Amino acid sequence: MPKYLVTGVAGFIGRSIAAALLTRGESVRGVDNFITGKRANLIGLEKMEFVEGDLTNPALCAKVCAGVEIVFHEAALASVPRSVADPVATNANCVDATLNVLVAARDAGVRRVLYAGSSSAYGDTPTLPKHEEMLPNPMSPYAVAKLTGEYYLRVFARIYGLETVILRYFNVFGPYQDPTSHYSGVLALFCRKMLAGQQPTIYGDGGQSRDFTFIENVVGANLLAASAPAEKVSGRFMNVATGAAITLNQTFDILCDLTGYRGKPAYAEPRAGDIRHSLADITLAKELIGYQTKVDFREGLRRTVDWYRTSSPEA
Ligand code: UD1
Repeated sequence: MPKYLVTGVAGFIGRSIAAALLTRGESVRGVDNFITGKRANLIGLEKMEFVEGDLTNPALCAKVCAGVEIVFHEAALASVPRSVADPVATNANCVDATLNVLVAARDAGVRRVLYAGSSSAYGDTPTLPKHEEMLPNPMSPYAVAKLTGEYYLRVFARIYGLETVILRYFNVFGPYQDPTSHYSGVLALFCRKMLAGQQPTIYGDGGQSRDFTFIENVVGANLLAASAPAEKVSGRFMNVATGAAITLNQTFDILCDLTGYRGKPAYAEPRAGDIRHSLADITLAKELIGYQTKVDFREGLRRTVDWYRTSSPEA
């Protein structure tokens, strides 16, 4: 029986966590429904037991949780604009799926569930950096859905004694992130376009900033959170980021250097549900799980561009 379950394993965060576990010699089961995950992302994970299925189905959740000790619940329909276009689908794949996973984990005797929270929970509050004491202020259906999942995890820790840990990710990027969808993260889109000599579009004036977090930092946080003492982390939520923000205009300039793109960006209307600035205080994750930023933004972006340069356009 595998010790670990990774949901959303064909997505880039789930895939990266599973790869790190396999490298450590762990036994892993992964599940994905391929709504946004890619089959190509499973290449290299052959030692993992893979189940294709949808977490909105409670029976499937029971099946994949059986015998497992720790769950990394990374599955979601990520993307703010996708949730604006179809809030019902986002709710089903984020809220219903999370509740199903928690019930199945509880019933299967899973010890700990780790959850991919989102910085979108903070919304557009003027206070920077964002710290965990701040009241949430979701501004999109996606933010509502991810935050609702957080509350379920906290309540399951309190009521059922399931160990749950919430990692609030800030704009994760890196190898294996899908660059092909209109709803892809901005860095995946920009890397792919600029390497192909195509003009990227900046929504708004480009002055908005993000605490872009390289995937290796997120994987590291998950491994630390999986083994941290329950007294310290169960029922808690913490930011996972770098603690530094950069504007989209600055990011575009760095990407020009890295990709050799010589054009200008196109500017378009700001996106609905978008927030202006996002920057994390990462003190709590340092205290609770010993988290440290291993790879800074520039180095992460360099590695990411290298990866998109060598991976096939469909990857
Ligand atoms: C939000 C969450 C993030 C979550 C992600 C899931 C916040 C602060 N962050 O990211 O934690 O993981 O949703 O999808 O809420 N943009 C362009 N051109 C493009 C694409 C995007 O200018 O072609 C802009 C967007 O308008 C936005 C920024 O780039 O200002 C980042 O967008 P995106 O990568 O989609 O992530 P967020 O919506 O910030």
